[in-house]
Amino acid sequence: MSKVLGLIGLGVMGENIAKNFIDRGVQVHAFNNSEKKLKELTNTVDPSLLYGYTDIDEMIKAIKPPRLILLMVPAGNATKEVINALSEKLSKGDWVIDGGNSNYKDSEETGIQLEKKGIHFAGLGVSGGEKGARYGPALMLGVKNIDAVELIQKCFDEIAAIDSEKNKCFKTYSGYGAGHFVKMVHNGIEYAEMQLISEIYDILRSSGKDRGYIEDIFNKLAESEQGSYLFEITKNIINKKENNQYILDRISTVANHKGTGKWTIEAGIELEVPVPSIVAAFDSRVISHSTVPLISNKRNGTIEIGYEKLYEAIYQFRISIFLQGLNLIRKGSFEYGWEVSIEDVLNNWKSGCIIRTKLLNTLPSVIDIFERKSNDEFNKLLGGVPTSSQLIALANQNSVPTPCMSASLNWLLSTFSKSLPTNLIQAQRDYFGSHMVELIDSSDAGLTHIEWEK
Ligand code: 6PG
Repeated sequence: MSKVLGLIGLGVMGENIAKNFIDRGVQVHAFNNSEKKLKELTNTVDPSLLYGYTDIDEMIKAIKPPRLILLMVPAGNATKEVINALSEKLSKGDWVIDGGNSNYKDSEETGIQLEKKGIHFAGLGVSGGEKGARYGPALMLGVKNIDAVELIQKCFDEIAAIDSEKNKCFKTYSGYGAGHFVKMVHNGIEYAEMQLISEIYDILRSSGKDRGYIEDIFNKLAESEQGSYLFEITKNIINKKENNQYILDRISTVANHKGTGKWTIEAGIELEVPVPSIVAAFDSRVISHSTVPLISNKRNGTIEIGYEKLYEAIYQFRISIFLQGLNLIRKGSFEYGWEVSIEDVLNNWKSGCIIRTKLLNTLPSVIDIFERKSNDEFNKLLGGVPTSSQLIALANQNSVPTPCMSASLNWLLSTFSKSLPTNLIQAQRDYFGSHMVELIDSSDAGLTHIEWEK
């Protein structure tokens, strides 16, 4: 059977994914309001595989059921409107695949809404930006019934990124919102990784290192055992010049966002999974909108740290970031009954996506620290604490903020602590509000109130 897909939305991601599908022999029926846009696309692809429509009914009529309709539409109201329209037009057994950055809760609702009409729904997380869409994105698919996705698999397997072991970075999770949840956490990690990199950059430039040196550090990191796409692009950004001027120096420091990082934090709060590195990264973007330039940045060039030590600290911060994100996926999966396999998630992110990194190969053994309380891994990880805390202290003493580094280190220190001071919190709660405490040396199980002022 030939591979046929209906596509709604020809923005940057939609256009590039259309080209990708067509290059791989998938017939694309694209709807767009603008005839000009459709013509432009036709001129850049094999025209025998692209059919353009400015009338959505015509597009639907032209595709033989069961249809696959992929939406590459901005998340939120725009997506909801298209889905409502489609729910009146499609036939039982057709598929709507939402490939936008939709909120997982919306995807859960949409699935149920369409189910009532006998229409299948899949929430599809697509990562890799413009280039990924064009040449191989990581695809995170959430469906109710994994066994029913053969039709989607056939088309989407064609375009998915391939990792170094020749596996497709296309995974299916059982749950309408599961794919978008995994993509949301991917973006939360993306925020933290980007913030961490900008802190590294800040420390290096504050210690008086020139661009060549800083570029070299990111180059080394990109090629190391913890190499990542984000290190790679950073290396390219640092030295980019136009008209003899460094572009980076001309870019406003006000950082924006489209919401997925905030959703990750909200999910963390709702599910009671701490994601402090992501909170720090998000807050840093928010703070960048209202900095008060009063502290003169006393940057006296005394932050001296060699590459090996820097590498060790970065490793520790990044492990912390990824573990926080994976914990959130684990809890989300449990609460929503999605049965997401962490191994699948790690493999899903190995190529195509923005957070792809060799570190994903190391993570299974680090996860063992939790699951099997592996001492070797634990010592390796926590052995770096003096280095990372020294780096943070030196930076802060020189007025260089390190929100993500500090949050990441403190998450590790708290999580692996033998004795948190939270017994004092419990005592205070009981003191002023009779909220009760649990006495660990008492044979009576349960909570008890202490008469603190007697
Ligand atoms: C990806 C990216 C992509 C997009 C972010 C940007 O995986 O391809 O994450 O989804 O670049 O949504 O998000 P912010 O605008 O919130 O930084």
